Formats: sequence, structure tokens, C-alpha cells
Amino acid sequence: MPTLIGPFRQLLPLDNLPERGAIRDDQLVIIQEGGVLVEGEKIVATGSFTQLKADHPDATIDEITEDLVAMPGLVDAHTHICYGGSRAMDFAARNAGISYLEIAKAGGGIWSTVQHTRAASKEQLTALTLERLDYLLQQGITTVEVKSGYGLSVSEELKQLRAIQAAGQTHQADVVSTCLAAHMLPRDFDGTADEYLQTILSDLVPVIKAEGLAERFDIFIEQSAFTTSQALGYLRALKAEGFTLTVHGDQFTAGGSEVAVAVGALSVDHLEVSDTAEIERLAQSSTIPVVLPGATIGLGCPWAPARRLLDAGCTMAIASDWNPGSAPQGNLLVQAAILAAFEKLSTAEILAGITQRAARALGLNDRGVLAPNFLADIVAFPTNDYREVLYQQGRLTAKRVWKKGSRGGRG
Ligand code: NIG
Ligand code: FE
Repeated sequence: MPTLIGPFRQLLPLDNLPERGAIRDDQLVIIQEGGVLVEGEKIVATGSFTQLKADHPDATIDEITEDLVAMPGLVDAHTHICYGGSRAMDFAARNAGISYLEIAKAGGGIWSTVQHTRAASKEQLTALTLERLDYLLQQGITTVEVKSGYGLSVSEELKQLRAIQAAGQTHQADVVSTCLAAHMLPRDFDGTADEYLQTILSDLVPVIKAEGLAERFDIFIEQSAFTTSQALGYLRALKAEGFTLTVHGDQFTAGGSEVAVAVGALSVDHLEVSDTAEIERLAQSSTIPVVLPGATIGLGCPWAPARRLLDAGCTMAIASDWNPGSAPQGNLLVQAAILAAFEKLSTAEILAGITQRAARALGLNDRGVLAPNFLADIVAFPTNDYREVLYQQGRLTAKRVWKKGSRGGRG
């Protein structure tokens, strides 16, 4: 028996938007007094609430009696929310003049979070991840990518990946897990960077496969982490094992996006220092650039060239990068709204970047739009004008969330 949800003052299906490039706001389809017909986990139809009600007299009505604007559930395609401890000291130190890379070189940064994450039990990490997933679901985010990368040994990466898996099995939001064992060369590893990466391939990958802990691998290509040539060999080996690839690239030093394109990575994330050559290369490729305004806000560094990426024809997504170091805030709507103002992005470009284009960056083709056969992941904001969502820069929070057709909350 189908359920008809509505009427929504405005319903934005976002299903007609181009996959690549710039989008004008007049391309947005807005259904006034709209409804969504849901059967099980999926959408059967969207359209006028009155019309859908007339066409489906058997449907149960999930009646909306307040002003709500509905759109697809949001997708956060890049987070590091499974971690212990805090890096408040890094934020203060950076603002006192010490750079992110200097802090890393002195033994702080990612390595300090590794100590706190190693000290936490798997159960504690699961609980911390669940709390953060709650905060994301409250924002209307129904799919969340979560990376490891604060364990940095075979056993500690496994603990983190198992905590992420447990959180994903408990929480109503869908969790997409990514192994970022190549976040940096751990300071206690007795060997070279190449030997560390080889250890990951020979000792960690088989367990990840056996337990189904991740289908994606990430690497941080940077002065403080791995070189482009180290990354190339590592990523090619992982591709041969059947994994999907993503890269932390072009954050402080260019080079990562070129590697990502060369290995056919699904996405390359950060891109704060990408320039014309990098943008053109991405535009000619199928690798999706993911910009992370939360890292710009956390570090006080330049914005990724979002406007230029879109104008060049990229499928650009926007994610929070929520992590204790560079992006501690964890509020995707705040960040996307601020990015829009600085980079002059249309509302349509922002909404596509946190729904369907973000889903694409994760290789997910079953969500991110409200259309027949897509998952019934829906977020509704308490307003009668969709433009209020970004205008209020995060102050307007989601009122209702449906995940696979069910009302939001922990599953
Ligand atoms: O996406 N750049 C590398 N990794 C994270 C930061 C991790 C950390 O500082 O703990 C990022 O910004
Ligand atoms: Fe990141």
C-alpha cells in the first residue's frame, strides 16, 4: 500500500538538472503544493498533491499541515567523523600564526588525533560516530561518507573501520565507508612510505575484503603525507583489487588531482590550489571534483575554485570534510551557503552539489533526486520559499526527514 506525503508548499525534485557544468536557477522545477508517493523504500511518483491523491485513492496519507519545502535528502560525500579527542589547540595555534603543515611537521595535526583514536575502544568510536551521524541527520543529510585514517596501523585501521561499519548498521542514515590508511606515514612505522603502503596492500586489504569493511580507498597526496609517485603505485594496485578510488588532492600543493585523473578515481576532494591546468584536466575527465568549504573556514585558506570548476563543465559536489583538524564544524548547509556567497554559485548549483552530484561522487545512482524508482530520502525545511534554506545560512534547520520512506531518527 503506497503512502502519499504532502502537501508541501514547494517540492523540488531536482531530477531534471544537468549532470555536468553550471546550472541557472531558472532550471529549477518547483512544484507548488506537491506530494511524493512512496511504496516501501522507493518513490513511485512526484507531482501535485491533489492530483496524486485523486489518482491513488488507496494511498495512506502522511499529511503535512505546516509550511514545508521538500527536496532530496542531502548527501555528505566526505567526512572523517570517526575520531577521538579534539584539536582545539591546533585551531588556536593556527590562528596564532603556525600553519597546518608546520603543526603536522612538529608532530601535531593528524598524528595527535591518531593518539586519541587509538586510545578509544571500538565501542567508544562507534558511539562518537553515532552522535555525529545524529547531528548530520538533523541537518537533513541521509547519506554520509565516513573515512578511517586515524588508526594508521593494520589493527588500528581495522578497529576504526569496524566502528564505522557498526555505526552504519545502527544508524538510519546510510554510511559509505572509505579506507584512508594512507592519511600520512605513521610516525611509529619502522620503514619507508613505500613499505607502509605495501603493508596496507598485503595485510589490511584482505581483511577489508573478507569483512566487507570498505569498497573505497583514499590517499592524502601532500608534502606532509604521500608523494604523487607513491600514490600512483598504491592506487593502481587497489584498482586492480576492484576498489573504487578517491584522493585528497591539491589542498596545499598541486599534484593530487593529476594523479586522481590518471588512475580514474571517482572523485578528487579539496582542490584549494587547483588552477587552470588542473581545472581543465578535471573538466576533460570523469573524476568528480568535491570542494570542502568547511576546510577553508577551519583553516582560513583560499576557497576551491568552485565557480571555475562549474564553468569548465565539471560535475562538482560540495561536502563538509567534518574532521577534528581542518574542518571541525560539521554543518554542511552553513558551509555551502557561505561558499555560494564567496564563489557566486546559484542556488541550483549548491542544491545539486549536496544531493545528486554528491551521490555521483560516491558512485550512488539511486538517490539525490526525487523521481520514480529512486530512494525515498526526503528532507523538508519549515518555510514556504526554498531560497530561505541557503539565505538563512544554516539557521533554518530541517524539520522533517524521511529515510527510505521512514520518518527520520535512529533506525
Ligand atoms: O581533509 N587533508 C587531510 N585530511 C583532512 C584533515 C585531517 C586532519 O587534520 O585531521 C582534511 O582536511
Ligand atoms: Fe578530508
